[in-house]
Amino acid sequence: MRILFLLQAFLLLLPLAGRSAPTDTHITVETQRTALVIRVNKDGDPTVVHLGRRLQSAAEYASIPNNGKRAEDYTGIYNSAYTPAGGRNLLEPAIQVTHADGNPSLDLKYVRHETANVSDGVVLTTVYLKDPQYPFEVNLFYKAYQKEDVIEQWSSIRHTEKKPVRMQKYASANLYIPAKNYYLTHFHGDWAHEMKPEEVQLTAGLKIVDTKLGTRADLFQAPSFLLAMNEPAQEDNGEVLAGTLAWSGNYQLAFEVDPLQNLRVIPGINPYASEYVLAPGKELVTPAFLFTYSTTGTGTASRNMQRWARKHRIPDGEGNRLTLLNNWEATYFGFNEEKLTALFQDGKKLGVDLFLLDDGWFGNKYPRNNDHTSLGDWQENKTKLPHGLGYLVKQAESTGIRFGIWVEPEMVSPKSELYEKHPDWVLKLPNRSEYYFRNQLVLDLSNPQVQEFVYGVVDGIMTKNPTLNYIKWDCNAVIYNAFSATIGNQSNLYVDYVQGLYKVMERLRTKYPKLPMMLCSGGGGRVDYGALRYFTEYWPSDNTDPMERIFIQWNYSYFFPSIASCNHITDWGKQPIKFRTDVAMMGKMGYDIVVSKLDEKELAFSQQALKTYDRLKDVIWHGDQYRLVAPQKNDLASLMYVSDRQDKAVWFSYLVSNRYGSGSQALVRLKGLNPAKKYRIQELNVYPGTNSAINQNTAVYSGDYLMTVGFNPNVSTSRTSVVLEITESN
Ligand code: GLA
Repeated sequence: MRILFLLQAFLLLLPLAGRSAPTDTHITVETQRTALVIRVNKDGDPTVVHLGRRLQSAAEYASIPNNGKRAEDYTGIYNSAYTPAGGRNLLEPAIQVTHADGNPSLDLKYVRHETANVSDGVVLTTVYLKDPQYPFEVNLFYKAYQKEDVIEQWSSIRHTEKKPVRMQKYASANLYIPAKNYYLTHFHGDWAHEMKPEEVQLTAGLKIVDTKLGTRADLFQAPSFLLAMNEPAQEDNGEVLAGTLAWSGNYQLAFEVDPLQNLRVIPGINPYASEYVLAPGKELVTPAFLFTYSTTGTGTASRNMQRWARKHRIPDGEGNRLTLLNNWEATYFGFNEEKLTALFQDGKKLGVDLFLLDDGWFGNKYPRNNDHTSLGDWQENKTKLPHGLGYLVKQAESTGIRFGIWVEPEMVSPKSELYEKHPDWVLKLPNRSEYYFRNQLVLDLSNPQVQEFVYGVVDGIMTKNPTLNYIKWDCNAVIYNAFSATIGNQSNLYVDYVQGLYKVMERLRTKYPKLPMMLCSGGGGRVDYGALRYFTEYWPSDNTDPMERIFIQWNYSYFFPSIASCNHITDWGKQPIKFRTDVAMMGKMGYDIVVSKLDEKELAFSQQALKTYDRLKDVIWHGDQYRLVAPQKNDLASLMYVSDRQDKAVWFSYLVSNRYGSGSQALVRLKGLNPAKKYRIQELNVYPGTNSAINQNTAVYSGDYLMTVGFNPNVSTSRTSVVLEITESN
């Protein structure tokens, strides 16, 4: 009888076992549709109990069982909001430190939290944590961009112990997600094939995506990922989290399916070779981890991220950009004033806004005529440019276009005056021969003197040429020979380097807030929101074959907006100029071709295309992007941009297969239109001498029809790319 009673009592209590106690504190970080809820239990441990759709009533968060418990959590902190290592933790930590007295454990207890409105629709929640035994504090920051549904999370760490604390790990975030299954899409590649997606189902234990390259850090792996819950990622359905770490150096994204089958996500700086020595009273602020959560697939997640970036992150993200003609592939290192002046005229004839002078303009003792010398010697080469940059700027301007220039200020060639003068400014190891990446070495940006020099490269050019209007900032080497001649703790180098770089960029942006700047890194070796705080646009890849670019640009679009994607028309690939132009148009368009080699029709087409682009760019740059047909699984790639007011849209479709009969047999359903509005469809970029099948059709369709039934863009082997303008019609 007694046993029965006990059993009954146990069964009655069971549903309550994982519930919060009335004394628990709940910290809710909410956007319009998403909530991240931290529960502080009676012991003061901050734990994540919800990351997902926002509840209508915040009071109900208290009813959520602890960490979606499906069995016993031995430690009670599998779902820690910032897992400290060394005490009772059994899983991947977010932070691991050795205190000044040698104690290798950390405990982090809740002290208090506060919430503040940073600006319209942006709310910052700060959670203060402290070790009960040591003067060691961690603050967790959650910035919620309400309208964009994006949460930016980072931490700051400081202490007042008697001596420095050694930190083996110091992540930016620590999320916890209970679901049935987890599908991770990460993006990897190499030079000329950036951002190749790979989707894997996560299994029990750890999966790490990381880089150890230092600079040009994303060459093999991007710091951006998609995480689909329960089912593989879909464009318009299903739960998905899009995440990206805003850091231009070594990062680590850790995904751990824990013993309860819940997922722990711990992104941050890579602990590899980076035990960080933190002096008393100093603060380490970790990079921001950005994420958006969607219950309607990757489409919504991307639009959230793109909108957030335009509004809150990328300089002039809601503003204008310049079309340009770049000379890299037209001349490589072989140019002089005469050639360049002729190219200015070509640019003007074509109708672009700006001429961009690429690599090869500098160095005198060692002229930059190939990529083996001169980086660091940022003076005009007197043979190629006897009258200096000022003359070129004026010449360009008198031709009617602006002038911009390429620099690679973080780097140094072994054959350069800079290296001869300041060998201690270069990252290189004592007692070892130097390893070169693209024949060059990396400057030591942890050294304030080097920061001053790097700042001075751009500031010097701009001071002498105040109307120069574009900087392409390149970074072609990874960090080999990681050793600084001046830094105290070598294991701080990878972190200090990036912080040094950001210091320089911050100063430049403060002095030149309006200057358009392209972020390039031997192609797309550095595309992250840490750097994109300072750059108006990025170079996705040196691979400009338009067939390749359809895929590359598509994959970047999961995280980055079209206004920031530099898409150039070049001579890569076998496709006609129309195809190349149509692909470049789905972002920030530019050229890198020999204009004088275009035949009459090609030139006329390109001139008209630039005018058309001028008319459409507002929708392409500032509108919402909808991916319609994915190139990975279909004969075509199709995507569209829709204006905020849903009165205009631009729709791009490209054939990506050369199999017999491939094309758009089926109707393609449009997205993002207003079902109640009527729209007219008109083909653009029609090549001179050809006719559009679509323009014969003067019908007007409702948004409802176009999104339910669809429309055939008529892509085929004889119409390999099609651009359609969709305009509201009465
Ligand atoms: C890198 C860039 C190119 C070009 C060259 C110049 O490879 O990605 O666009 O600027 O450097 O050396």
